[in-house]
Amino acid sequence: MENTVCEPQKRALSCIQPTGIPTLGNYLGALRNWVAMQDEFECFYAVADLHAVTVKQEPAKLRQQIYEMFALLIAIGLDPEKSLLFVQSQVPQHAQLSWLLSCQTQFGELSRMTQFKDKSAKHADNINAGLFTYPALMAADILLYQPDYVPVGEDQKQHCELTRDLALRFNNRYSPTFTVPEPYIMKTGARVRSLQEPTKKMSKSDENQNAFISLKDDKDTIIRKFRRAVTDSDAKVCYAPGKDGVNNLMEIYSAITGKTNEQIEAEFDGKGYGDFKTAVGEAVAAELAPIQERFATLMGDKAQLEALMKTGAEHASYVANKTLKKVMKKMGFVI
Ligand code: AMP
Ligand code: TRP
Repeated sequence: MENTVCEPQKRALSCIQPTGIPTLGNYLGALRNWVAMQDEFECFYAVADLHAVTVKQEPAKLRQQIYEMFALLIAIGLDPEKSLLFVQSQVPQHAQLSWLLSCQTQFGELSRMTQFKDKSAKHADNINAGLFTYPALMAADILLYQPDYVPVGEDQKQHCELTRDLALRFNNRYSPTFTVPEPYIMKTGARVRSLQEPTKKMSKSDENQNAFISLKDDKDTIIRKFRRAVTDSDAKVCYAPGKDGVNNLMEIYSAITGKTNEQIEAEFDGKGYGDFKTAVGEAVAAELAPIQERFATLMGDKAQLEALMKTGAEHASYVANKTLKKVMKKMGFVI
């Protein structure tokens, strides 16, 4: 007999800060998985612009980066018809719930956040209250939408744990209100390392431009950066301990083409690193070309982008408001 019981679709939510064009590492490690998740989950994705102002931002540049990040999310394949895409600051419930949650978050808990410790060491001249309460805003981003899963990288796990603690605390103190979400550490996410120092992760804040591929790099730049990638002196394409540079290139090539290490080793058997690096560069450029084309089209029509942002924000606000109203009522506000 056919199984007619249909499980409700699970929800997933994640956000990304508009602080510059993501790298190939962000794409293969995180963003590409967001695209794949659209088929399995009901997805909510936002540009976390309120989080970005916890460090100093130049207004015109911030505005441009918000447009760019929103356009890029669509360009990589997030479909506004399938997923809810929005800009955090356009949904006022985030700031509202954040205040309520920050009143339930302890100073000690926030002081233990490693990201706060790192960022306050890095920006010693601007250790503002927002940098400190950042995790309460992130908890609000999540809990407003009652998601089951939050796809994030390792570095955000501690904030997700705090979000779970806050949800449980609220549910116990008042009554069940929030879904307690689980971090979703991506299964197929590649770990992409620097092209210049392959023991370090690829990062957009690297001073050496040759160390990372930006999703905006053109074909020539991509190929040039791969041709300059640090390898070793054996001149043999194989995956082995100690061959960090070659291993990294093989992982990138595999993540893009779907080929296994054995297939890659066979393909480049008897060939030098030059051919291999060019092939990796070409594969990456071919993967990024359609994304870059869609990105340019979207950025060329700001009115359409704004319309998409508006629709997303309205829909998000409708969902978020239901949670916010419940929370306020339970806390004793007159609503
Ligand atoms: P970040 O730009 O470092 O805040 O990272 C945003 C997301 O991209 C996180 O989920 C990270 O796990 C992921 N990510 C960043 N850099 C890399 C990398 N080199 N390889 C794989 N994933 C990465
Ligand atoms: N703090 C996250 C980062 O820097 C971005 C973020 C903000 C986020 N709100 C979120 C991620 C909610 C997941 C869920 O990467």
